[in-house]
Amino acid sequence: MELDLSGKTAVVTGGSRGIGRAITLGFAEAGANAVPLSRTESDVEAVVEAVRERGVESHVETLDVTDTRAVEAVFGRIDDDLGIDVVVNNAGVNPDSALGTPEAVDDEGFDFVTDVNLGGAFACARAAEEPLSENGGTLINVASVGGLVGLPRQHPYVASKHGLVGLTKSLALDWAPDVRVNCLAPGYVATDLTSELQENETLRRSIEERTPLDRFADPEEIAGPAVFLASDLASYATGSTFAVDGGWTAR
Ligand SMILES: NC(=O)c1ccc[n+]([C@@H]2O[C@H](COP(=O)([O-])OP(=O)(O)OC[C@H]3O[C@@H](n4cnc5c(N)ncnc54)[C@H](OP(=O)(O)O)[C@@H]3O)[C@@H](O)[C@H]2O)c1
Repeated sequence: MELDLSGKTAVVTGGSRGIGRAITLGFAEAGANAVPLSRTESDVEAVVEAVRERGVESHVETLDVTDTRAVEAVFGRIDDDLGIDVVVNNAGVNPDSALGTPEAVDDEGFDFVTDVNLGGAFACARAAEEPLSENGGTLINVASVGGLVGLPRQHPYVASKHGLVGLTKSLALDWAPDVRVNCLAPGYVATDLTSELQENETLRRSIEERTPLDRFADPEEIAGPAVFLASDLASYATGSTFAVDGGWTAR
């Protein structure tokens, strides 16, 4: 059995930075065509170039995953160009406006986070259903340890990530046996999303001390499990959520 994704095409939302960028390049290194999607054209173009440097195809599109019409159109164009075998729902946000006690978070802050993290993932899954079914494809949702346990003062984020874990199960049931659907639950990863935590010595140390492996992950350490889940090596895995958290939820 080999981890070879030659001839497949993987689409990664939020593929322009951080974990999504690493996942996109991980697929390219496993031989798949890889398409990063995000709202920022220059970032998308830079990752597309890095994909092509690895000898596989890509496709330039910008996308806001909350724009459901655009989601349908963009997935349609990618399917026409390269086909779609793998979708990674990775786009995610957790802005300051959505942090704090329940009283401190207004409807707008709550909706912003759940619309991107959960609604966007559902829209992309729906848009990709046809090619994934036809190609015997795979969907991977990127949740968080906040999809497995509560995190104080992150209510919209935790709700959206628990929602993604549930969506993984319900999609896996509806789409079996044609499409496998799984979920990754990363712990703390060194990306823009956690830059404030990394820069604050006290917070950083408290997170590291709470993590058995005693450090933040590099984004590439989430890419490996994503490529594995999309490959035939994971052919009997569906409906599951895999923690990749340095042991954080083992306590
Ligand atoms: N970093 C961590 O410690 C950690 C831990 C657990 C789970 N996660 C999850 O992993 C995923 C990636 O996180 P990250 O740390 O890599 O974040 P990041 O560095 O902030 O990157 C987020 C990516 O999502 C894109 N994005 C944001 N809103 C979008 C939208 N509406 N439509 C399309 N793309 C959008 C961003 O590009 P644009 O802004 O240009 O659109 C960017 O490419 C998220 O779902 C996050 O919740 C992260």
